[in-house]
Amino acid sequence: MSDLMKDITGLCKRRGIIYPSSEIYGGFANSWDYGPYGVLLKNNVKKIWWETMVKFRDDIVGLDSAILMNPKVWEASGHLKAFTDPLVDCKKCKQRFKSDDLKKKECACGGELTPARDFNLMFKTHAGPVESDANLVYLRPETAQGIFVNFKNVLDSTRVKIPFGIAQIGKSFRNEITPGNFTFRTREFEQFELEYFVDPKKADKSFDEWKEERLKWYLGLGIDKKKIKLKDHPKKDLAHYAKAVTDIEYEFPFGWSELEGIANRGDYDLKQHQAVSGENLQYTDGEGEKFTPYVIEPSGGVDRAVLAFLVDAYKEEEVKGEKRTVLSLHPKLAPIKVAILPLIKKEPLIKLANKIYTELKELWFVEYDESGTVGKRYRRQDEIGTPYCVTVDFDSLEDSRVTVRDRDSMNQERIDISALKEYITHKIQ
Ligand code: GAP
Repeated sequence: MSDLMKDITGLCKRRGIIYPSSEIYGGFANSWDYGPYGVLLKNNVKKIWWETMVKFRDDIVGLDSAILMNPKVWEASGHLKAFTDPLVDCKKCKQRFKSDDLKKKECACGGELTPARDFNLMFKTHAGPVESDANLVYLRPETAQGIFVNFKNVLDSTRVKIPFGIAQIGKSFRNEITPGNFTFRTREFEQFELEYFVDPKKADKSFDEWKEERLKWYLGLGIDKKKIKLKDHPKKDLAHYAKAVTDIEYEFPFGWSELEGIANRGDYDLKQHQAVSGENLQYTDGEGEKFTPYVIEPSGGVDRAVLAFLVDAYKEEEVKGEKRTVLSLHPKLAPIKVAILPLIKKEPLIKLANKIYTELKELWFVEYDESGTVGKRYRRQDEIGTPYCVTVDFDSLEDSRVTVRDRDSMNQERIDISALKEYITHKIQ
């Protein structure tokens, strides 16, 4: 792991953002738990995505489908057959690799490798008490299939008309051969996926529009434009269902890597489900013409988005000879929007600070902190990315004003307590 990734992982643990899983039992490799601030950050990412997709658009509806589905879904989708990675074993050290990840045809230990064989990435389990093949079920490896199998339900129960989308956020599971790079590649992860159903004649245009839309979304949340780009997949590397794929890549400390994929899935999924289920999954337009819609799919990883926002926001600076670590997160993403700090732990400062805290808490996640020096409290808030700290001092008791400190510039301004809500609302939009 690079030094920067170590620093970020260390900060995440120290400040309650992301912890290694099952740590009291020695950990569980490549599993991570979001701590008190991490869950707020992750929830903000999901909320902003949901608002962008479902709340602020008239052409997209939401869905929350089950993780466990009829195994026929995975037969129809092609996952049972084709959702595989080529796996090789080292005959000497017994390590396993994804054969595409190996530069040479030899293990680092010098051992000989077995020929590659297909390894299906879906986790299997059994529904009910009997462990037989008859009740084998799979943990979904993408949320998308839950959307396709509900296409008809949504058409029949709502007033959607093509072009329209169905959006979903939820956990997916893949038995990755080589997980790693902190939360970048794990076996349990969360996806935000949109399946946008279009007239096949308009699919190329929609594909281009979604690439731009999704790039704009990351940029609007503060991602450095030099560190994010679109990258087309060569035709020979396309997934079994795709006509075209463009990735949004971010320059992580371990190199440019996929943040989100935008795919033109054509009519592959709906046609497959129609063939295997026997249900008519065609769409009839206003003129009575029947067709199978094409699907444009922007599909991102919530955990990867969180990681990119963390990496992008992480800064180390020197302030008056001391190191300052700061997470310059976009205010909309910041777990805590404001911290209220009485200058010292004494009445009546505490009472006034608590009054302000209680009022602001109605609007945002706010923290009250009276412990230690103000300098230390500022540093703590900088490290969890709190955009504003409000300090209540003795003058506040006389002039009803407080000091508002900006996380990034560290500038301080005196603001009337009565104007605080409006001032911060304006700043964090
Ligand atoms: N429905 C299409 C689909 O699942 P994908 O490119 O395999 O496409 C979409 O996955 C996104 O899900 C990726 O861009 C990535 O952000 C996230 N993702 C996939 N595998 C992941 C893993 N093992 N760990 C974390 N995120 C993952």
